[in-house]
Amino acid sequence: MNQNQKMPTHIGIIMDGNGRWAQERGKPRSFGHQEGAKNLKKLLYHIYDCKIPYVSLYAFSTENFQRSKEEVTFLMNLFVTLFRKELKSLKDLGVKVVFSGRKEPLPSKVWNAMQELEESTKEGSRGVLNICINYGGQYELVDMAKKIANQVQEGKLSIDEITKEVIEKNMYQSLPPLDFIIRTSGEMRISNFMIYQAAYAEYYFPNIYFPAFQTSDFDEAILTYQNRNRRFGKNEEKNLSNQ
Ligand code: IPE
Ligand code: IPE
Ligand code: MG
Repeated sequence: MNQNQKMPTHIGIIMDGNGRWAQERGKPRSFGHQEGAKNLKKLLYHIYDCKIPYVSLYAFSTENFQRSKEEVTFLMNLFVTLFRKELKSLKDLGVKVVFSGRKEPLPSKVWNAMQELEESTKEGSRGVLNICINYGGQYELVDMAKKIANQVQEGKLSIDEITKEVIEKNMYQSLPPLDFIIRTSGEMRISNFMIYQAAYAEYYFPNIYFPAFQTSDFDEAILTYQNRNRRFGKNEEKNLSNQ
């Protein structure tokens, strides 16, 4: 990684492979989630050190509620610990935490811990951490459409005034587009993660389960990103390092 070269402004991380990482070690899936959470903390410090200002994390999809009750309960409790204890130090780092996703059917203790973390870090100006929990990209579009339809119905907005900017203002969070998405575990899909924001993102699929994904693997990912040619539909081939 070369910090003098163009860094992404907004990166997305699909933290996948916790369960398989644990199962390969003869341990329950929950152990993988625990180790994944530990690894996340380390990785986040590194990312903000790299001066990447926006990070979106896929922590739990709307579809993940279809897993066993035992696994869902474990994850919900882990989120409470993570938000109440482990990620509290993000405040000292100057990182503002925001959440994307639907409230229902999250248990109220998780929702409360989310609100507390958002509130305690709201003054952060060094970076933004957007945590996607009970999140689905398709539902975000449904919820955006409903918000806009409401404004039209109330006479606050006319149909002709609906632009890309209006759509972006009515998403869960106001964030720049995703530049780079890393999905660990080797799966090559985005599984309903920020499908609108990912329109021109670069993708990276390392064959490493999330608990084993090291800061050096992250640096390698950034190096790959810096060597990609992003054209945005234009025809000049511009290397990121020259931007
Ligand atoms: C990602 O790891 C964490 C969540 C989805 C909450 P997985 O639990 O999906 O692990 P694998 O993909 O089954 O190994
Ligand atoms: C995506 O991983 C969701 C998170 C990492 C939180 P999944 O493990 O749920 O995705 P699929 O089922 O492999 O597509
Ligand atoms: Mg998975």
